[in-house]
Amino acid sequence: MVTQSQSPILLTVDKLEKRYGGNRRLGDWLGGKSTTALQALKGVSLQVSQGEIVGVVGESGCGKSTLGKCIVGLQPPSGGTVTWSDGRPMHAFSRFERSTKIQMVFQDPYSSLNPRFTIGRLLKEALATHKAAHDKSPLNTAVDRLLGIVGLPQSLKQKFPHALSGGQRQRVSIARALAVRPQLVIADEPVSALDASVQAQIINLFEDIRQQLGVAFLFVAHDLNVVKRVSDRVLVMYLGQIVEEGTKEDIFSTPRHPYTRALLSAIPVADPSIKTPSSILEGELPDPHETIAGCAFSSRCPYVIPACGQSHPDLTPVSGTHRARCIRLAQI
Ligand SMILES: Nc1ncnc2c1ncn2[C@@H]1O[C@H](COP(=O)(O)OP(=O)(O)O)[C@@H](O)[C@H]1O
Ligand SMILES: [Mg+2]
Repeated sequence: MVTQSQSPILLTVDKLEKRYGGNRRLGDWLGGKSTTALQALKGVSLQVSQGEIVGVVGESGCGKSTLGKCIVGLQPPSGGTVTWSDGRPMHAFSRFERSTKIQMVFQDPYSSLNPRFTIGRLLKEALATHKAAHDKSPLNTAVDRLLGIVGLPQSLKQKFPHALSGGQRQRVSIARALAVRPQLVIADEPVSALDASVQAQIINLFEDIRQQLGVAFLFVAHDLNVVKRVSDRVLVMYLGQIVEEGTKEDIFSTPRHPYTRALLSAIPVADPSIKTPSSILEGELPDPHETIAGCAFSSRCPYVIPACGQSHPDLTPVSGTHRARCIRLAQI
């Protein structure tokens, strides 16, 4: 659990665990079928500093959304702690208090924007609900200010969500999240549903918001390209664990974990004349219900040796704040 930034630490997640299911009574009810618990997070530790953008990347199903949900309290963790900068555990805050500190932005803004409300009303409601948390300027002024921050024209205030493009809708949901002046925004795949050109605009917007408001972001994506554009630090997750963490340069210039290397080799190259190296990432993600002996990545790892089947490697320092979870770091 290391942080690169000199800024004060905003959020500390320590050995977070999350199990889903495993209910024997439910199993009986389902006619004796086993409802094996699924360990979605296996001791995840991280810190986010003020104004820092931390990227979280990994294949679908590795626990990224669960991590975000446990941090904001949408899912109760099964173990570990989430602590705010004042030293208080997040669960000690009321839901309202939590929402003034951390906001979430999701992949599909359409489903979270009330289709019957105009954009102006949606933003006013968000501002009014949290009036204790924002300044005392009239609501209309505050709405205009929010639209300005996310780069939307004031003429959109009279429009309904369905009349907006996907990128505009995502800007509205970002504006709504910012209405409470949170210090941290957890953005869960915020650009995954958008076209590449719009993706780039929204990513630039996150950078602008960080510059203007000093907001920190935990930026979750399955696409390393997206994370590369925006993050100061990157956490790579595999089956509920962080397998590598470091600065953006560490992860993209000198990746050490075989999984990170595989993800990087799978990134398509923008120039079509350059032949993309084929991915070395073979096979499917193992069934998350199954217990894997030894290193979780061993079943797909091109560098696997018999010892990997018995080892549960810790995150090992590589250099500075760069760490990776692999027993073969010295050889590969
Ligand atoms: N509410 C839930 N109940 C049971 N299993 C869940 C639930 N949410 C997620 N999971 C499982 O937990 C694992 C991690 O899921 P998730 O956090 O959504 O991953 P990601 O966001 O990286 O795709 C997956 O195997 C998923 O099927
Ligand atoms: Mg997800």
